[in-house]
Amino acid sequence: MPAKIIDGAAIASGLRAEAARRAAALAARGVQPGLAVILVGDDPASAVYVRNKVRACQEAGIHSVLERHDAALTQEALLARIDAFNADAAIHGILVQMPLPKHLDPQRVIQAIASAKDVDGFSIASAGELMTGLPGLRPATPAGCMKLIESTGADLRGKHAVVLGRSNTVGKPMALLLLQAHATVTICHSATKDLAAHVRRADIVVAAVGRRNMVTADMLQPGAIVIDVGINRKDDGKLCGDVDFDAAKAVAGWITPVPGGVGPMTIAMLLMNTLQAAEAAAPIP
Ligand code: GUN
Repeated sequence: MPAKIIDGAAIASGLRAEAARRAAALAARGVQPGLAVILVGDDPASAVYVRNKVRACQEAGIHSVLERHDAALTQEALLARIDAFNADAAIHGILVQMPLPKHLDPQRVIQAIASAKDVDGFSIASAGELMTGLPGLRPATPAGCMKLIESTGADLRGKHAVVLGRSNTVGKPMALLLLQAHATVTICHSATKDLAAHVRRADIVVAAVGRRNMVTADMLQPGAIVIDVGINRKDDGKLCGDVDFDAAKAVAGWITPVPGGVGPMTIAMLLMNTLQAAEAAAPIP
């Protein structure tokens, strides 16, 4: 039986509607949730991402401030802008779009964001909360992947999950979220020997490598849940993920398409994080 397609666009749309309801509930208490987005430089892909984030905020009733800065912005000036948003009671979330121009230190920039406003979940404090299982703001992409996995109705307890990729933004937090859901987790990376042998044992595969056809159908266990975080281009210029989708869907039980799988979830989870931050700042008395 061919795999069921996990419709990330539909699930994200439901989350965005939920975000709008939560934003309206906060507004009814006199609190408008607010997100500050800082874009430095003129990377065209970043400009598109940022525009989509701001538009999603508008649609959900979240106040957003977009600050664009010249690529020559100094680190001190950027840190000063972050400090200003840290002190601004109308702003509950701060996002500095990555990548930054080379002369800016992303770690220092991320660490400057007040942890209560770290809606990317990239700070050491947020990473520590995830690591220890404390409540906190989780990185949007892996949190979105968890929602997609949950949408299949699968019970993760005792299941074997294999994560391909060990980035701080996706692979590592993904592995920790799966662990928190009681899966047995393997992280594979560029130095892993016999990737296929690991993937073959997976009930859940999360591919976040950024290389086309990294996961082929012969590597998959029949019925596996396959989450494809990759965004690559085929020779004809069309988008594709890390998984050979057409062949894999004949073997997998569930699979995300690219586009329309993980991608739409990232912005939806950013909205959810902004609401979580706003609700935490304005608790119901
Ligand atoms: N650049 C690409 N994805 C992201 C993201 O999720 N957050 C930030 N801050 N920058 C990004």
